[in-house]
Amino acid sequence: MKNIVINGGRKLDGSVSLQGSKNSALPILAASAMVNGISVIHNCPDLTDISAAIKILRYIGCKVKREGNTVIVDASCAGRFDIPEKLMREMRSSIVFLGALVSRFGRGSVTPPGGCEIGLRPIDLHLSALQRMGVVIEEKNGRLECNAPCGVRGCHISLAFPSVGATENILLACVTAKGETVITNAAREPEIVDLADFLNRCGARIRGAGQSVIHISPAKELVPVEHTIIPDRIIASTYMACAAAAGGAVSVKGVIREHLMPVTGIFETAGCNVMFSGRELIVRVPRRISRIRYLRTMPYPGFPTDAQAVVMAMLATANGTSVITEKIFENRFRHVPELSKMGADIRTENGCVAVVEGVERLRGAKVTATDLRGGCALAVAALGAEGETVIDSIHHIDRGCENFELCLTQLGADVKRIQ
Ligand code: EPZ
Repeated sequence: MKNIVINGGRKLDGSVSLQGSKNSALPILAASAMVNGISVIHNCPDLTDISAAIKILRYIGCKVKREGNTVIVDASCAGRFDIPEKLMREMRSSIVFLGALVSRFGRGSVTPPGGCEIGLRPIDLHLSALQRMGVVIEEKNGRLECNAPCGVRGCHISLAFPSVGATENILLACVTAKGETVITNAAREPEIVDLADFLNRCGARIRGAGQSVIHISPAKELVPVEHTIIPDRIIASTYMACAAAAGGAVSVKGVIREHLMPVTGIFETAGCNVMFSGRELIVRVPRRISRIRYLRTMPYPGFPTDAQAVVMAMLATANGTSVITEKIFENRFRHVPELSKMGADIRTENGCVAVVEGVERLRGAKVTATDLRGGCALAVAALGAEGETVIDSIHHIDRGCENFELCLTQLGADVKRIQ
């Protein structure tokens, strides 16, 4: 088993280049299966979730090569429309392959997806949207057998919640459907815009991605293109939280300022100085950060649920009491008992409200990463804590953070990975 060991209490001072966005790369890799030819996808981070997507692509018959951070997908020979349970269970995003399979083959066979255990995570919105588009879904032996006997047809879909995954699945399924599709209450995350940009470059006709109403006119077929994945706004927020917890100043290179607007205000309220210079972000941290009176997670452009855990870890030593409400997932406070082992004073109510009483200092402890962002939160806390923290179950962190220890070391932290 591997652990990350962090000796805390060192101020950070350094610069790091931001990785590509995992949550953009995953649906774009799924989309590459719909292209009859070779897609070249740059800035694709080297993560276990991306490897899981590549395994699915290979299983359905694509030829896939990785050259550094470029993934090259030749989908011209793709021929299978079923995904084995073992591959589906490796991550949540395996479900977006369903939209891609249905679009390319008119059918798909999948099982419910896996992924971080942060809530119930149903897929009802994905499935009801596909059904409206003429896909007949039958459950057989724990598998979802999906068929569009008369082809996928465009229609009006109004989402009950702006689900990121459901919006992606609809986009994938409908770009070559018969007739116009309109999605209302669509997710507006930058990752949706990146997927739409990729598909449009391939010949799709998507208008309005990034807004609540998206219009999709039918395209004949998708042609191969090169595409560069957007930078990972959640990892940028993670490095900002690392600085806020440890003190000092950190520069993150390769950011898109607009994507970080939902989080920068929070860091400023906590007393940090956040500056942008082109694609570089510099965060300077006061001696002790201040509490955030009230923070709640919301769909984009609200404060992202994926940054909740790391911001909670930084607030554990803020001056005063912060209240965090988690509005997206039911089970996203699993890092709280682990932070408590380090001396944090956090009380949760109904699983969705956390009251964080800032303490002067955390202390190193042996803790367990419970999910990807919760694992990152433990690293944030450890950087500001006194003494040594050992984080186990770091496979969760490897799902989403590329070269995590190396990047933290570049920022001046004392971090190593041990076997
Ligand atoms: C995406 O998950 C991200 N994952 C998550 O990041 C992120 O936390 C989430 O969006 C919200 O921003 C990827 O992009 C791979 P949702 P997704 O569908 O698509 C409910 C990370 O750490 N819902 O927007 O699964 C659902 O239960 C991960 O990188 C339904 O009820 O999120 C949740 O409460 C974790 N029925 C809410 O909507 C459905 O059919 C938002 O989920 C679908 C969703």
